[in-house]
Order: sequence, then structure tokens, then C-alpha cells
Amino acid sequence: MPDPAALRRAARRVLLRNWTGASTVPSHGLYPHQWSWDSAFIAIGLRHLSVVRAQRELETLLAAQWGDGRVPHIVFNRTVPLGAYFPSPDFWRSSTAGAAAGAPADVETSGIVQPPVHALAAWLVHEADPAESARRGFLTRLYPRLAAWHGYLAGHRDLGGHGLVSMVHPWEPGMDNSPCWDGPLSRVEPAEPGSFRRADLDHGAAADRPTDLDYGRYVRLAADYRDHGYRDADTPHAFAVEDPSVNALLIASEHALAAIAGALGADPSPHLARAERLTGALVSRLWDADAGLFLCRDVRAGAPVRERSVAGLIPLIVPGLPADVADALLRTAAGEHFGLGGAVRLVPSYDLRGAAFDPSRYWRGPAWFNVNWLLERGLRQHGAPERADALRAAGLATAYASGFSEYVDPYTGQARGTRDFSWTAALALDLLAGPYTGGDPV
Ligand code: SER
Repeated sequence: MPDPAALRRAARRVLLRNWTGASTVPSHGLYPHQWSWDSAFIAIGLRHLSVVRAQRELETLLAAQWGDGRVPHIVFNRTVPLGAYFPSPDFWRSSTAGAAAGAPADVETSGIVQPPVHALAAWLVHEADPAESARRGFLTRLYPRLAAWHGYLAGHRDLGGHGLVSMVHPWEPGMDNSPCWDGPLSRVEPAEPGSFRRADLDHGAAADRPTDLDYGRYVRLAADYRDHGYRDADTPHAFAVEDPSVNALLIASEHALAAIAGALGADPSPHLARAERLTGALVSRLWDADAGLFLCRDVRAGAPVRERSVAGLIPLIVPGLPADVADALLRTAAGEHFGLGGAVRLVPSYDLRGAAFDPSRYWRGPAWFNVNWLLERGLRQHGAPERADALRAAGLATAYASGFSEYVDPYTGQARGTRDFSWTAALALDLLAGPYTGGDPV
């Protein structure tokens, strides 16, 4: 365990350096704009440094919400040169191509989304200083926006028709090149290799990043969505998957929204009812008792994706999970496929025994700090506090030793991807502040 004061100082330095005045970049080189789920995790850590700054982080993101309720996965900083990141605002063209879907006119954004961690983050930020939150009307201003965001997902994005949210691009679940997407993506014709230029390889080792073939398919899917005005009902969506992690995060956030409604004197019951419906759909549609974890579902093929991704363990954060399901998840986390408490330092993003496992390449095996932070809460919530304590200690030690890297080799803890990564620093601060004791809504 590193010296807590040194760790806190170092994490604080990362967050101060990555703050741009109204929000935080995940990293100045590789991701020089505002990212949606990054900002939620960042706010959870920032609340320990400055509650007002943490509120601001979420307010800036939600100010770029579209009229249909979607919260875009990137909010572009207009002072950053176009060539610094691809796909840039002139690719997405949100303010024109997305106008019919209600894209804002005064800021450029992407047109896809990321996992809904925001209501959970807003609640945790509120709880850090309820008096300051009330003084600034933080929850009052955010509540309708967060409710509209969940409404967009539950409505426009129920593409499978069974009450779960579908993601329509591999960047949406946040686990860009997970082996779970190999099958669904294989049906997508890649964009011409010469038709775009990747900027990510200027800042990250090619072996740590997705392949060119994957990028060609990412570009094709995003361009198709844009060319259909980002209207879900009109877009063919060649890629549509139900992801257990995204749906679990929506459930956790719906519980948080119920707590927010309660704090504002509004009726929490619609949120609790939606959380219950989603939990039922998650278990009945994505639980695989033989595998002992939740599987993604390829909505276009009408079949489960038979790959073990850490996305299938993240439902541990769902309160009210059936006890046999929670017990099986705990066993799977500690078994040969994920190695918790045994073979690995931190839980990998993908099956250690899977044919596609790669300890370095982005979401095909490396361990990520946001995922391990979620699992730490889940373990604590479902009666495994010793495992949670050990994971917390490993997360803190690895975050510090790796220079707050974006991800690490799950076996060795060696840094991969970019360094001084904001959510790694933020979530280390949150873990440092003390173990989660079960007092929050999730
Ligand atoms: N994670 C993606 C990237 O690497 C997009 O959100 O740029």
C-alpha cells in the first residue's frame, strides 16, 4: 500500500492538470475533449477535492444533452485543433446532422452515447456535501436532465423489444474492442482505410490500441448513424447489442435517481419500478447459469454472444439481484476465467482463458480501474468484504505504481495505454477515502 498522503498528492496533481476550466479531459494527448462516462467517474473522485468542481463536471456534460434526451459520448472543446482527435467534430457534424434529433446548436458533440453512470455520480457528489448541493440547486437542476437521459435509453434504445437497452456502436458500452463485438462487427463493411486518419496512434502504442480493421468498422457504423440523422427509428443499426454492464449501470443509476427524487420531495416510485423491471429483464434475458455470468446478446443475430467479458460480472452492482445469481457471480469472479484473489492483481476485462485474450490490447484483456472500482462496490454489496478490501488495496497500489495509467496488464500490473489518466486518479482518490459501507442507494 503506497503512502496515502503521497498517493493523494499525485492523484490530485493529475486531476488539476487535466481540468480545463469547466470539465476534465481523460488525458491531454489521447482524449483531449470531454467524455461522458469518464466525466461521471471523474466527478466521483473530484468530490473529494472540490465538490463544486465535481458538480461542474456533470453540469458541463449535461448542458450538451440533446433534445431527445441522449447524452453524447464526447463534448468537443472548440479550442482544440481538429487534427488532435479522430473522429473530430467535422466528422460527427452534430449541430447540423443531429438537428432533427435535438442536438444543441451551440456546441459540437458526437452522436453516440456511453454507459449511464451519471445519476449514480450525481448522487455521490450530492452526498459529499448535501448543504452545498442544496445551496447551488445541484439536484434540482440535474434531475430532469438525468430523467430524460434514462427515458431516451429505455425508450429509443429498446431495440430488442424486451425491455433492455441496446448499444449501437462498440464505443457505446465503452469497451471498444471487446472480443464480444468480434461476431456482431464481422457483418459490418469497414470504411476504406484511406478515407480517415487515426489520431490515437500518435499518442498510444499500436499494440495497446484497437486494430485498423476494427477502426474501419467503427467509422462505418458512426457514419451510417450520422447519415440517418442519428434517428434511432430510421437507422438500420447493423450493430445492436444488449450489454449486461450498460444495463446494470442503468439499474444502479435508476436507484440513484430514486434517491435524488426522494431528496427533492418528488415521487421515487417510478424509478424504483423501472429498476425492478430492468433487473427482471437483465436476469431473464442475459443470465447464463452454465457460464455463471451474464452474456451480451447480439440483437441482430437473436443470439447470446458466447464470450466471457467482465461486462458479465458488473451486474454485481445491482441491488436486489437474486441470491443464487450473485453467489454464482462471486464464484466466477474468483475462478479460472477472471482470477480474482489468485492469478491476477486486478480483474481483467476479458476471460484469461479466452482464445482472444491479450494482456495489453485495450479491452481484450487488460485490467481497467473503473471496472475494478465497480466490482469493489459489488463485492462489498453482495457479502464479500474481504475480497473487496483486497481489491481496493490492489487498485490503490497499482494505480500509483503505474503512474495512473489508463489500463494495466492484469497479471503484472504494468502500465498500458496512456498515463496520468483522469478516472484512474479520481477513482484512486475515492478508494482512498474509505471503503464503501453500503449506505448509498447501490
Ligand atoms: N474510446 C474511444 C477512443 O479510443 C472513443 O470513445 O477514442
